[in-house]
Amino acid sequence: MENNKEQNIKILKAIPEDALGITTVLYKTWLDTYPNEEIGITKEDVEESYKDHFMEERVKKQQENIANAPANQLRLVAKSGDQIVGVSTMIRNENNNQLRTIYVLPEFQGRGIGQMLWKEAQKFCDSTKDTIVQVATYNKNAISFYEKLGFTDTGKRWSDDKWKMKSGATIPEMELIIKVNNL
Ligand SMILES: CC(C)(COP(=O)(O)OP(=O)(O)OC[C@H]1O[C@@H](n2cnc3c(N)ncnc32)[C@H](O)[C@@H]1OP(=O)(O)O)[C@@H](O)C(=O)NCCC(=O)NCCS
Repeated sequence: MENNKEQNIKILKAIPEDALGITTVLYKTWLDTYPNEEIGITKEDVEESYKDHFMEERVKKQQENIANAPANQLRLVAKSGDQIVGVSTMIRNENNNQLRTIYVLPEFQGRGIGQMLWKEAQKFCDSTKDTIVQVATYNKNAISFYEKLGFTDTGKRWSDDKWKMKSGATIPEMELIIKVNNL
């Protein structure tokens, strides 16, 4: 549809009641983003890594985390009516700002919501420090999105066991940065 830039999207600070909606966005978007034949990451891997996240206890824990979020962390949600359709977390570290997460539900992507989340998250950044983001090396869409926002590749590459899937495959990562004088 022409002119389908989102008019009815609100960017809000996450509240504990958003916990399940946030987990749902992360799960659905992970499923759409990370399975990769070449690297060996399967849909089942993603399902497996999220299977506990919907248990009552985990959702409660998430609610507590949101309620007790440290002052250096901003968690945002994008809402279309009552539905959470995007999420983002920005952290002010001692040496930099870190865009920890930015996920928009597949059916809501490409409508400017990622950019809206970024704009709000950016206001929370310490403008005297660089801003970094870590991304899967094969996540070309996200890399293009970050480049559009002004991030550039630092050249750093690594794999962390934290992203080791049940199949044994690991998501390879890279780092992008916005240097302070480019903010
Ligand atoms: C990456 C992501 C957050 C971007 O959010 P979005 O709402 O789809 O992006 P927007 O509509 O705000 O796009 C902003 C700009 O980024 C660029 N962009 C966005 N998606 C792109 C894509 N798939 N390919 C190329 N460029 C893209 C465009 O230049 C766009 O500007 P334009 O609309 O003027 O052309 C979203 O697509 C997403 O959740 N992807 C899957 C999860 C993910 O990879 N998250 C990042 C993990 S590190």
